[in-house]
Amino acid sequence: MSNHFKIAILISGRGSNMNSIIEAVKKGEINASLDVVISNNPEAKGLETAKEHGIDTKAFDLNSYTSRAEFDLAIIKFLKPRNIDLVVLAGYMLLVGADFVSAYKSNMINIHPSLLPSFIGRRPHQQALDYGVKLAGCTVHFVTEGLDDGPIIMQAAVPLLEDDNEASLAARVLKEENRILPECVNLIVEGKVKFKRSIRHEKSIN
Ligand code: GAR
Repeated sequence: MSNHFKIAILISGRGSNMNSIIEAVKKGEINASLDVVISNNPEAKGLETAKEHGIDTKAFDLNSYTSRAEFDLAIIKFLKPRNIDLVVLAGYMLLVGADFVSAYKSNMINIHPSLLPSFIGRRPHQQALDYGVKLAGCTVHFVTEGLDDGPIIMQAAVPLLEDDNEASLAARVLKEENRILPECVNLIVEGKVKFKRSIRHEKSIN
């Protein structure tokens, strides 16, 4: 899988979104190489999947660092010599700090299982059910400082069904996540999508 455009993926658990990118790269649908998969959770199942595909993996245990900033700096220090072109947060459950955002400004994307800006943070599907919205979904966006925030690249909507619960809704949304995340990665690899602050994000930095 050697190619000039290098991707690093950060995960915290299962890694189905990571796997959708691995599969797309293997099928030749994304013309890039997966350089490394990083997790904040040494037990993440996705690390095993990445290893099975022959991809380098690295776990950073938050407990070994005195602060979140120090933890982020260790990851940045690890990534920098690898000359990564794109960092993909694919089910990475930690807020990325200011240093990390500025190190990969314009070159870091995240997937969140809601139609942003609705339902940021934890349990977005339960938030959608509690609110009673008719459409849920997922969003891929560039990462700026702020939780689940930044210019939106792509969204997919999923109708709520009468008998939905958190698990059934999450499963249907996940299928859409696994579809649009590799599509977005490919658009970036092909230079068809670039980071541009929306009016809302212009305002947020003034
Ligand atoms: C996905 O639903 C992803 O959108 C979500 O965690 C799940 C990880 O699944 N991420 C967030 O909530 C980030 N705010 P996966 O490990 O199978 O990709």
